[in-house]
Amino acid sequence: MTHQSGDVARHLADVTGTRAQDWFPVFKARYGMLEAFAALAATGTERAVVTQFLTCATAVDPILVAGMTPTYAEVSPATLSLDPDALELGSDTAAVVIQHTFGIVDQSAARRLAESARSVGALVCEDSAHCVGRMAIWPDGTPLADVSFHSFGAEKMLPTKFGGAVWVSPAMADRELRAAIVDRLLALKNPSPRLALAARTYRYQLAVLNRLPRGLSRRLRALLTATSVLAPPVAPAEREGRLAHAPVAASDWVAHGMASAMLTLPRVESGRARAVAAYVEELGDRVEVPAGITAGQPLVRFPFLAPPDVDADAVVARLREQGVVAGDWYRPGLYPGAVDPEVYGYRPGDNAQPVTEDVIARLVNLPTNVEPERARQIARQALAVIDSCRVGRA
Ligand SMILES: Cc1ncc(COP(=O)(O)O)c(C=O)c1O
Repeated sequence: MTHQSGDVARHLADVTGTRAQDWFPVFKARYGMLEAFAALAATGTERAVVTQFLTCATAVDPILVAGMTPTYAEVSPATLSLDPDALELGSDTAAVVIQHTFGIVDQSAARRLAESARSVGALVCEDSAHCVGRMAIWPDGTPLADVSFHSFGAEKMLPTKFGGAVWVSPAMADRELRAAIVDRLLALKNPSPRLALAARTYRYQLAVLNRLPRGLSRRLRALLTATSVLAPPVAPAEREGRLAHAPVAASDWVAHGMASAMLTLPRVESGRARAVAAYVEELGDRVEVPAGITAGQPLVRFPFLAPPDVDADAVVARLREQGVVAGDWYRPGLYPGAVDPEVYGYRPGDNAQPVTEDVIARLVNLPTNVEPERARQIARQALAVIDSCRVGRA
């Protein structure tokens, strides 16, 4: 591990109360996920990885690329994560992914999910992509996951745009599997010079693309992506059940960015937590806010469910017209949408997960990288927009 990657590991160990030697920085979290699932595929015979459809395509691509089978279970509207009461695990379950969606960490739900997974001998995977450096823990303070994935990617907690890290529990019961995961993570190669350059120049490329007329920008973006000059957050292949590149470690430049950004994490988190508290106060009893959101949580975005008689896409569009960076993450599921959901083992519309589909239809998110006063103003704008979007109104 390079000097820079060692710094990242130390920072992550400090904020989580874990050991630096159990952290492995990677170029993007998805590559760390791939290594964990590939090790699982190689050492076991079970194939099902239980996860949720309310997620990013890049969280499921590694499962497919590793030769495992994504299996979708219902989410809870309270946590936007797997519902422990609806979880059915079979003899083929190899792993369960506990995703802290938007950074909502519900300790008691996570513990129940981990207990269910362990009861069938499945690997407990934690997806902390939205909340780098935060993990679900047992009452004694030890992390409950076997493997925990953290992202420094675009639109996550920190402004790094690239980078990820995997924590591998030193207490993992299956020692052979643990060794296989660690060996694979340590053997990761550095990104090619072209990919390393794409990461270094990403910010400048975006600045140029964002200034061009939309049609031209879209065409140029596609060309730059096809020629590997641009490394977008979600590449076309990553909407088709594949990954854009072979798995790679963090380049020195990416690791250096991660280590520097970790120094700002406490400040970033407290700013976001203040915005969340303001949203909870303004929206908590006016719209459906996931109950797992407690005021002190530093969420990457603030989610709420639009009322059933309101078109959530219209809410997002009208807020954007008003200059609010409202988001439609996870509509469609496997965001920003699979070219063919059946490749991912999902048949939308067959009503297999009615709760998840209802959440996806109604989910809206608001920015948390704003001052509390601005959050209050955005919340009031959101309420007014919801009112104006009620079915039957113009
Ligand atoms: C829930 C979730 N898991 C995993 C990932 C993958 O993270 P990375 O972009 O670092 O590969 C993402 C990325 O958007 C995500 O939203």
